[in-house]
Amino acid sequence: MKYQFANRMSNVKASAIREILKATADPQMISFAGGNPSAEAFPVKEIEKISADILSHEPISVLQYGITEGDQEFIQAATKFLNRHEQILTDKDQMLVTSGSQQIMEFAAKTLCNEGDVVVCENPSFLGALNAFKSLGAVLRGVEYKDGQLDLDALEKALQMEPKPKFIYLIPNFQNPTGMTMSLEVRKQILALAKKYEVLILEDNPYGDLRFEGEAIPSIKSLDQDGLVIYAASLSKIIAPGMRVACAVAPREIIQKFVVAKQASDVHSNLWAQKVMARYLCNYDMDAHIESIRKIYKNKCYLMLEEMKKHFHPSVQYTKPTGGMFIWVTLPEHVDMLTFVKKALEKNVAVVPGNAFLDDDTKECHSFRMNYSTPTDDKIREGVKILGQLTYEMCEVSS
Ligand SMILES: Cc1ncc(COP(=O)(O)O)c(C=O)c1O
Repeated sequence: MKYQFANRMSNVKASAIREILKATADPQMISFAGGNPSAEAFPVKEIEKISADILSHEPISVLQYGITEGDQEFIQAATKFLNRHEQILTDKDQMLVTSGSQQIMEFAAKTLCNEGDVVVCENPSFLGALNAFKSLGAVLRGVEYKDGQLDLDALEKALQMEPKPKFIYLIPNFQNPTGMTMSLEVRKQILALAKKYEVLILEDNPYGDLRFEGEAIPSIKSLDQDGLVIYAASLSKIIAPGMRVACAVAPREIIQKFVVAKQASDVHSNLWAQKVMARYLCNYDMDAHIESIRKIYKNKCYLMLEEMKKHFHPSVQYTKPTGGMFIWVTLPEHVDMLTFVKKALEKNVAVVPGNAFLDDDTKECHSFRMNYSTPTDDKIREGVKILGQLTYEMCEVSS
């Protein structure tokens, strides 16, 4: 049988990260390629207890079908949680509980984009979102960074070009893959541009709570008075990604369309997970829990940066995140990044080639992504040393 697949999937490849992660199944491999929360960061005992309580006292509430919008108890708890420091959900908004925030990316493209419509994104940006947009027929228009911030002139040009984009996809806090954070001024200017050109913003904020240095910066959603922002909040990075619970917050009209998309997709998000999350948010000290995760990531990030400073060739540049899970490393131009990544893999260290995160992965790229949340401290020391030796071999040999 010759299988005939739909055109819309033709330019979506199996995720480069997933492919590399397959290689990391080898126990010898030191993986800086993932983006998983640290094994120490899960509130296992609490989840076990809440879950046992629910299953023994009200099992049918989580075993029966639920409503598409989400479990009311969870929606109330999540609204209170999201609005605790700034107003994310206003009177004009509605929330939809989704199966991870990945599903919000899918619904945004599904409900807003026709085949060939343009989505503006940061270049580089989160591969999972870019693949979701592409798989629904959208075309990516990437905007580069300049001096550590999104290039606003380039963004304005991208908004002026035809065809007019449907939305701008942004990760303002501790971006995946770069670890960079947008300044307040840049957020305000992006919002002003979105208003001027009447283009929606999809603000993806899975890492906002993982700040371990400096002051929180208001979300674009909290600055928006004009119904321009769709906000994606996820509990994956602060509670547990396996539970697949996230929240889309946006003007009602948009959420109503998302609800229809969800009915056609998976009917509703997992009720057990929503109930457990609701009770965890309400009955436990979330601030203390988040503080404990921040401490873990701060230590891991600083350890990785310290080891990189010690072992990496001085011509190699990298970001210094103040939160989140990733460091973006840039090799000098004369070093071939893909060869570097392959050689690292041969030495049992996995990182993700940076071109995987571009609007067009055939573009020249000298960067790769490193994750510090998943590996143990010993693996961080060992793996960075190996990469460091490789930077000396490759940066000096080819210079
Ligand atoms: C920027 C970004 N957005 C969204 C997601 C998806 O998270 P989830 O679907 O688990 O909420 C990820 C996961 O790594 C991410 O890095």
